This record gives sequence, C-alpha cells and structure tokens, in this order.
Amino acid sequence: MNHSVKTFKKNGCLSYVITSGNEALVIDPRLDLVEQYQQHATGEGTSITYAVDTHTHADHLSGTSTLAEKNSCKIVMHEKAHSPKVDQRITHHEKLRLGNTEVLFHHTPGHTPDSLSIQIENDLFTGDTVLAGGTGRTDFLGGSPEQMAQSLKKIRDLKNITTIYPGHDYNNLEKTTFQNELNSNPLLSNTNSNEVIATLSSSRPPFPENMKGIIRFNKSGHVGGSELLSADEVSGHSAMGGLIVDVRQVDEFEHGHIEGSISIPLNEIERRHNEFNNADPILVCASGIRSHEAKTKLEALGIRNVRELENGMASWKKAGLPIKQTNRTLPLERQVRIAAGSLALVGALLGYFVNTNFLWLSAFVGAGLVFAGITDTCGMAVLLKKMPWNNNSPSNTSSGCSVSNKGSCAS
Ligand SMILES: [Fe+2]
Repeated sequence: MNHSVKTFKKNGCLSYVITSGNEALVIDPRLDLVEQYQQHATGEGTSITYAVDTHTHADHLSGTSTLAEKNSCKIVMHEKAHSPKVDQRITHHEKLRLGNTEVLFHHTPGHTPDSLSIQIENDLFTGDTVLAGGTGRTDFLGGSPEQMAQSLKKIRDLKNITTIYPGHDYNNLEKTTFQNELNSNPLLSNTNSNEVIATLSSSRPPFPENMKGIIRFNKSGHVGGSELLSADEVSGHSAMGGLIVDVRQVDEFEHGHIEGSISIPLNEIERRHNEFNNADPILVCASGIRSHEAKTKLEALGIRNVRELENGMASWKKAGLPIKQTNRTLPLERQVRIAAGSLALVGALLGYFVNTNFLWLSAFVGAGLVFAGITDTCGMAVLLKKMPWNNNSPSNTSSGCSVSNKGSCAS
C-alpha cells in the first residue's frame, strides 16, 4: 500500500485524510473539522493538496473552501457540481496523482447527479453511493433510483477492491469489506435492477435537519472562515446550530430576527459575552455598523474568531431568507420617527393656515430631536414606551429598550 487512511467521524458523517508520500487528500471534509485535518496532515509531515467532496452534501457544511484557503489546495468535485469554487471538475474514470499513488474517480450518480466514488489502490471511498448494508437515498437533490441501480452495477463490476469507506456510519461500522457488501448488502448484492429501483423509490426517510441552509452554503462554495459572512453563509451556520448573536436593541430583534439567534444588544455585549459558552459568535445588526462595533469590543476583551453578517439584516432580507417575528408592534425608534415627523408637519400646516404661533410646535419638536441626539435621551421615546400598545412588548422590560439608545435610529 502506498497510502494511509485516517478516518474522522462526527454526527454520523465520515471524512477521510488520505496520505501518500508528502501529499494529502481530504475526502468529504466538514467545515467544523478543518483544524483537525490540518493537525493530522502537519503531524504526518504532509501538505494537503486536494480537498474532494464526493457530492453536494445536504447534511453538513463542506470544509473544502476553507481548506483551499488555508492550504492553496485544489477543490475537486464532479463536473456536475454546483459550487463555483471547484478547481478541478472530474469526469468518469479521470485520474489524479497523489504522492506515490493514483486516485481514480468513478462517476456513480443516483444519490445526487454529481456523486463520485473514489478508488485509491484497493480502497473505495463511496460517499453516499454505497453505505455499509445499504445505499444513499435517491429522493432529493436530483437523485434517481434508476441511476443508482446503474451505479451499483458499476461498483459490483470493479476489480481489486477490498475495503469500502462510506460517507456515513450509523451502525458503528466505519468501514466494511467489498466482499461483505457484495454478499449481504441488500441493494448492492441485488442484480435485479427493477427490484433495486422499486426499493429505492419506496424509501422516503425524513429530510436532514436544516437541509436548505446547508445546501445553499455548499452550492455557493463559500469560505466559512472569513470574518465577513454573506447571508447564505450565515444561513448555513444557523442551520448547523452555530451561534448567531443579534446586537440590535431588543425591540428591533423582536420585530424580525434570524431564527435561533440570541439577542445581546451592543451596549450589553461586554457584560454578557459569557453567554456565548465558548462558541464562536457570528454578529448581526441592521446594516453591519453595530456588529462591527461589537466585534471591536469583544476583540478588546481577547475574544477571537468573531465574525459578522456583512451588511446585517438588510442583506438577509435581500436574500429572501426567513425572518422570525415575536412582536408585531412597530419598533419604538420608528414610532418616534413617525410621531416627531407628524407633529412637525401638523405644526407647519397649522402655522401656515391657522395661526403662525403653531410654528412653535414644529420648532419644539426639532429642538427635542436635537436635544435627544446630543444627550442620548429621548423624551418622546419615554412617552411612547408608556402607551398601551407598547405595554405588551417584552422589550419594555429590558434594559435594552431604545429610550437612551444611540444607535436606534442610526443603522
Ligand atoms: Fe449525501
């Protein structure tokens, strides 16, 4: 054997670092395990030269782009893959050189149109085409029972394979032998294509959790490690249960936020950062101004790996991503704008049509806004907060209300 295999497993997903000579290839890297692949390669004295996804994944965020950024390695996928970040688009039976060995790609569609099985000497890395005792599902992401049946035949006909390394392990069986699968895998062993197609067609397991956000991330080919994340990237992180911290005021949060995000207003971020529980936060505000200010404050406390949603909720909304709302009354700062503008307008109209003394009303409102801006204290917000329609708002019980809020009208 001119190569070695190191297996990584998390949440049922298997990924592999294949080492040969002074080169390493990573198969199906997860974004949250990138550091572990790096450490392994460094320990082996190799450099990662290829990052391969056997297909577009729906159940974990791909780490290929981040590996490519850290190692200048090539991202390899089948030519039908959507990600624009792919450097080498592989076709059936194409080969790559890895150190002292050869990597041979078999196009095995069925689970997805871009599914590959990767042969390295006697080892076959099957992604979600063949699993121990079964196959990947064929009912989403362009899957096809008919194509899967043909791909299984292709795999049955392979020569010199001894070990199968699948893309998932749900039975504490991280690898299996080719012979064992040929004998006992009910789908791989069945040479009657119609029966295989019928079995696959009748299988409708539940979709993976948070599938949409993960697919969006993986298809976009985004890099997960950069500091400014796009809405699609944040959606992917959110889907995987990543920590999203919304630093707007509480009432802004209640009027529309990313599902699963937590609210810690900017003016409380230094005091409450222990609520991160050592997770790396992604900060969100309305337009990106306050999130950047929060990042600066956190970094001053020695907190690293802080990232931001670029252009804040504005970019989230522009991307058409879902927004959760817990309070349907208008945010206090918008109520202030409407009330102040209305009073100024009424004062001007009455001053023109009825009596010039009413112009003092407009002047009073203007002076009040100037005072609020200078002192950071808004009397109108205090008054509005006491109105009955605002009394049910949870934000009114919070220290984060926008009564003395510098940023509430700014971003
Ligand atoms: Fe898959």
